[in-house]
Amino acid sequence: MASLKKRLIICGFGNVGRAFARLVAERCRLVEERYGLKLELTAVVDIGGAAVSNHDALPVDELLFHVGSGGSVETIERYGHPGLSFKELLSQVKADVLVETTPTNLSDGEPGRSHMLAALENKMDIVSANKGPLVLYYKEILNLAKAQACKIYMSAATAAALPTLDVGLICLAGADVLSIEGILNGTTNYILTRMHLEKCTYETALKDAQQMGIAETDPTLDVEGFDTRNKLVLIVNRVLNKNIGLSDVEVTGISGVTIDDIEKTIANGKVLKLIGAAWFEKGELKLRVAPSELDPDHPLAAVNYSEKAISYLTDSMGRVTVSGGKSSPLGAAAALLKDLINLARFGGL
Ligand code: HSE
Repeated sequence: MASLKKRLIICGFGNVGRAFARLVAERCRLVEERYGLKLELTAVVDIGGAAVSNHDALPVDELLFHVGSGGSVETIERYGHPGLSFKELLSQVKADVLVETTPTNLSDGEPGRSHMLAALENKMDIVSANKGPLVLYYKEILNLAKAQACKIYMSAATAAALPTLDVGLICLAGADVLSIEGILNGTTNYILTRMHLEKCTYETALKDAQQMGIAETDPTLDVEGFDTRNKLVLIVNRVLNKNIGLSDVEVTGISGVTIDDIEKTIANGKVLKLIGAAWFEKGELKLRVAPSELDPDHPLAAVNYSEKAISYLTDSMGRVTVSGGKSSPLGAAAALLKDLINLARFGGL
């Protein structure tokens, strides 16, 4: 079968960007055989510049070794370009898809927002693990994508390996979603589970989550409930076709939760989980993120450690819950790869 080739540029080379580059290198042959899709990594852009291949693909093993040994993408021999920005790069090379993995920035969405706008101006599709630009400038980015006939996929920004959008948009097509409840953040679920099952302290559990590479670069985003809120906003906007912003969601995180609180919950026969929820009251959409005491038979009560889950209540398909999809750099990378494959197979959602 003739292959469709997609040239990729990764922006951001932290845990997720590196895991994605490794995954593409490992699986490109399988992806080509199975889906007729040839993925080629053209460039990686990070804070100090870029590594660029003008022919073929970048040598991913060499790049990962170089960066893993303390180097930066822009200092790798033959490919490195110190100071080269994504925008400048686009005037030199042609690529098909931006893989956006720079850290989530909730002040102005940068540098991800500029990357996305520049990519769309150059008619590139986008797969994003970065939530900042999408929660802050959802309509602006989506409208430009539509005007440019480009696609944006954001599974990796909406709980990654847990298929929240795929279920909401594909599997529940034609049904009315009446409410959404989710455990959307692996770090906080990991902390609460360790506190509940192992009586571990909050501080130790957070440190372990950071070591596992699942906490955000700024872990306040996790523990104060902001990451859950960001994902909820993206899911609600995509699945319910809304245009809500961050200030529409009431948020309480878990930084104030003590072992005493956990013990009280256990004494009540309940389980404490950080839940992101959207529901309708008299036709009005309500949104909240808060630690919530769940009955043990609640569909989200047994979701433990870095696993996540989403439960949709619908009018015609009843309750549909999907769980699993542990938070991990590999899970986020796999969600980016899934989106790339589905973008090539099905076009836009
Ligand atoms: N920090 C997030 C989590 C992963 O713990 O689930 C990226 O969204």
